[in-house]
Amino acid sequence: MIIAIDGPAASGKGTMAKRLAAHYGLRHLDTGVIYRAVAHAMLAAGIDLKDEARAAEVAMTLDPSTFDNPALRSHDVGSAASVVSALPRVREALVAFQRQFASAPPGAVLDGRDIGTVICPDAEVKIYVVADPRIRAHRRTLEARSRGEPADEAAILADILARDERDQNRAVAPLKQAPDAYLLDNSHLDIEGGVRAAIDIVEAVR
Ligand code: C5P
Repeated sequence: MIIAIDGPAASGKGTMAKRLAAHYGLRHLDTGVIYRAVAHAMLAAGIDLKDEARAAEVAMTLDPSTFDNPALRSHDVGSAASVVSALPRVREALVAFQRQFASAPPGAVLDGRDIGTVICPDAEVKIYVVADPRIRAHRRTLEARSRGEPADEAAILADILARDERDQNRAVAPLKQAPDAYLLDNSHLDIEGGVRAAIDIVEAVR
């Protein structure tokens, strides 16, 4: 079984994906981390984020063992990821890795922006998770503070809106609901409620 979960930044899709994978005994891939790893490597090497040729090279030689680097989680790396992820050659370079991950037994849960539309259009279950931008900004603020990082909620909201705008309006693989994806509004659900709603969708579909 392949489960595709897409949605905007901080919608709660990552936690849902992780919990669904544990529940069904599937592997889990947070695909945002791949774009974050490309952005992080480019920032570290001082490469212009819009240099498509060099970004594609970085994407092609990416080492998945770096995906658990905590530095990838920072807000700045997330914003940089949304810039490099708009480059068609970067996306192209990363398709095969994601499809191989998805199709290896026993199946997988992938979360991102284009899983149901581009990476796994034949996934058995597709869920599109949304939440009010102000609620997403508030959750991200609390998360940052719990890690001991200073966080300005208004700035985080502005950044989330800018990121939504870039992700939804890019020419290649924009963030959008696949026609056969179930819409899950996570604005007023806590973690358990969101996971329960996602499991209900999987049970109804499979
Ligand atoms: O989900 P996360 O915030 O980690 O993703 C970082 C950025 O990577 C997103 O803003 C988006 O631009 C990009 N991304 C993407 N396609 C995916 C996953 C993430 O373009 N499948």
